[in-house]
Amino acid sequence: MTEDPPEAPTITLTQDRDGEVVELDASQWNHDALYMALRDVLSQATPDPSIWLDHPSDEVDLILERLGFTPQRDLFRMETSIPLQQRTELTTRSFVTGRDEEEWCEVNNRAFAWHREQSGWTVELLREQQQEPWFDPEGFRIYERDGRIAAFCWTKIHPDENPVIGEVYVIAVDPDFHGLGLGRALTLAGYQHLEAAAITRAMLYVDADNTPAVNLYQDLGLEVQVVRRLYQQPDKAS
Ligand SMILES: CC(C)(COP(=O)(O)OP(=O)(O)OC[C@H]1O[C@@H](n2cnc3c(N)ncnc32)[C@H](O)[C@@H]1OP(=O)(O)O)[C@@H](O)C(=O)NCCC(=O)NCCS
Repeated sequence: MTEDPPEAPTITLTQDRDGEVVELDASQWNHDALYMALRDVLSQATPDPSIWLDHPSDEVDLILERLGFTPQRDLFRMETSIPLQQRTELTTRSFVTGRDEEEWCEVNNRAFAWHREQSGWTVELLREQQQEPWFDPEGFRIYERDGRIAAFCWTKIHPDENPVIGEVYVIAVDPDFHGLGLGRALTLAGYQHLEAAAITRAMLYVDADNTPAVNLYQDLGLEVQVVRRLYQQPDKAS
């Protein structure tokens, strides 16, 4: 029997709202090769790219430091199988395109007021996302209380991953309704929606220092599979 050849280490260059983004998995590289490959890629990138690196370590931090980059924040990629053991009976509805945008932005931005990236949603940005092939208003679960959006769970299906994986893409509870069990219920509602779409694997990304959310997801059975660390040059980060 022949074994599959090891995957060639890769570095990907993409764009996001803030500019060029370099992505790589440090576990694929030996340290000397990583330094040289990154130096090459950075010499071709725009002056101040962001670097998202999977499986960071102190040694890798030193390599990035030699290239002028410092760690900014860590994300956890958490995963589990679905169905989850916990269930919710909470009734949610689909996002209504053309009607919910403004109110959703207000609730989202209030819930994420402390968050550098997630607090900046605008109706224009949301409309752009609605044009993406993965956007599905059915997978964008809304919970209303007292005639207003109290919480939501926006899911996303990744058909190109094997197995196909369902993501809780953005979830939040309006701060007026924190601590009432809605975060748990909306996360479950999101994953139950994915389960109904025959998805068997679930994941999400969460800031490693978002203790309320990490505690909640661990309690639901999600486990940290990957740490992703963001590096930037100090002048871009400030
Ligand atoms: C994270 C968030 C969704 C939790 O919603 P919530 O409705 O307040 O949480 P719940 O009442 O459902 O609590 C469920 C669990 O969350 C955890 N939790 C909630 N608040 C917490 C806090 N202040 N500190 C620690 N853990 C907390 C606990 O594990 C809790 O379980 P318990 O009730 O058995 O103790 C909410 O705080 C929020 O919207 N935060 C801002 C947006 C955000 O961070 N979204 C997640 C990004 S991935």
